[in-house]
Amino acid sequence: MRVTVIGCGYLGATHAAGMAELGYEVLGLEVDPAKVDQLSAGRVPFYEPDLEELLSRHVTSGNLRFTTSFEEAGAFGDVHFLCVGTPQQAHGLGADLSQVEGAVVAIAPYLRGDALVVGKSTVPVGTAERLLAMLDEHKAEGATPRLAWNPEFLREGFAVKDTLAPDRLVFGVTEPSAEATLREVYAKVLADDTPCVVTDLPTAELVKVSANAFLATKISFINAIAEMCEATGADVWDLAEAIGHDARIGRKFLNAGIGFGGGCLPKDIRAFQHRAGELGVDHLTSLMREVDAINLHRRERVGQIAAEMLGELSGARVAVLGAAFKPDSDDVRDSPALAVAGTLHLAGADVSVYDPKANANAAKRFPTLTYEDSVLDACRDADLVLHLTEWPEFRSLTPGDLDGVVRRKQILDGRNLLDADAWRDGGWTFRSMGRR
Ligand code: UDX
Repeated sequence: MRVTVIGCGYLGATHAAGMAELGYEVLGLEVDPAKVDQLSAGRVPFYEPDLEELLSRHVTSGNLRFTTSFEEAGAFGDVHFLCVGTPQQAHGLGADLSQVEGAVVAIAPYLRGDALVVGKSTVPVGTAERLLAMLDEHKAEGATPRLAWNPEFLREGFAVKDTLAPDRLVFGVTEPSAEATLREVYAKVLADDTPCVVTDLPTAELVKVSANAFLATKISFINAIAEMCEATGADVWDLAEAIGHDARIGRKFLNAGIGFGGGCLPKDIRAFQHRAGELGVDHLTSLMREVDAINLHRRERVGQIAAEMLGELSGARVAVLGAAFKPDSDDVRDSPALAVAGTLHLAGADVSVYDPKANANAAKRFPTLTYEDSVLDACRDADLVLHLTEWPEFRSLTPGDLDGVVRRKQILDGRNLLDADAWRDGGWTFRSMGRR
């Protein structure tokens, strides 16, 4: 079996390398020639642990190649994974489906026999059915292409593990032969007793958005509780530990702080809200709207606490530790850390940012901030240190590391992961989010 992967961004590059690791000959299709050159040289154009080693090994062995040609990809593959992006629309909350639709129309005329197109991108429910009609309209004479939906749940920072050893597989199919092909493609993963749910196309599409909406809701729930804790003097960390011991609730994704960001959760809950609105499912629309609002309010809350600690924002020197939306990533899309840094800068503070991997991407998005190459450089003469992305090197910082570096010993732990007692014992004013 030969596999093509259409779209070699974050998801596609990882999936292509993963498919090669499962033993297939893989052709990655990417419309950006510069990316094709990079990937063909075994280089990954973003930071993801273990991915470059995996990808370059399969490029060197010849099992993994890249192209810009839909004609070549159509002729090559028996199975074609659709991994293009579905970003938020430029002027709306819905998903921009132009890349998915464009890819289907472009590949359709070149598909051979009964090739299987497998959607992995996150799409609004109902998209797969429309894509099936497009395939039918644009297919070559005599060809009978099939479509299935196999949503992807990988997390940045764990992308290789999540691809090769996922929690579960979901196959959305319209007929048994598509399920059989997917079972063959994933035979090695299924042999490890990975749970597999086989369902229809709309359910498979909804599984993905529901999973992300649930995770986002869980984070916003605990952040709303954090505000209750702030209003009452209660401690959200102890509370999360206590409710998390209930197996029905679970401790994961109950870390209150500055809220969620990244290329998935924020845009997916907005697209879900938009789609629910189109379908008249009003309670879901308002639930997603509130989840988004609570999340964005956390960023404002950091600004309020910073202002309380500094007295006057204008002219204050603020060190921001972290720009990526989470550790082990250089991704700054919808990053709460960078949004807070930008807001404080606009309010007149002199902001210095340091992130171990994301400085370059952050500088492209927010060129007016100052970027430094180390914690110490960012913290020099600071009136306030903000811990906003929980990289290990920040979590292991001690007050002694910054003594004599900062101007005022003040730190706000936006991720609730630093040792408050140690910082207070070191003579620092220490605040966190929803903690005593
Ligand atoms: C997410 C989903 O987890 C993944 O299954 C899906 O395929 C893509 O979207 P990802 O965007 O990589 O993955 O990040 P994730 O680990 O889910 O974190 C998202 C955001 O939530 C981060 O900004 C993180 O800091 C924040 N978060 C997470 C919290 O604020 N509190 C938590 O308890 C957990």
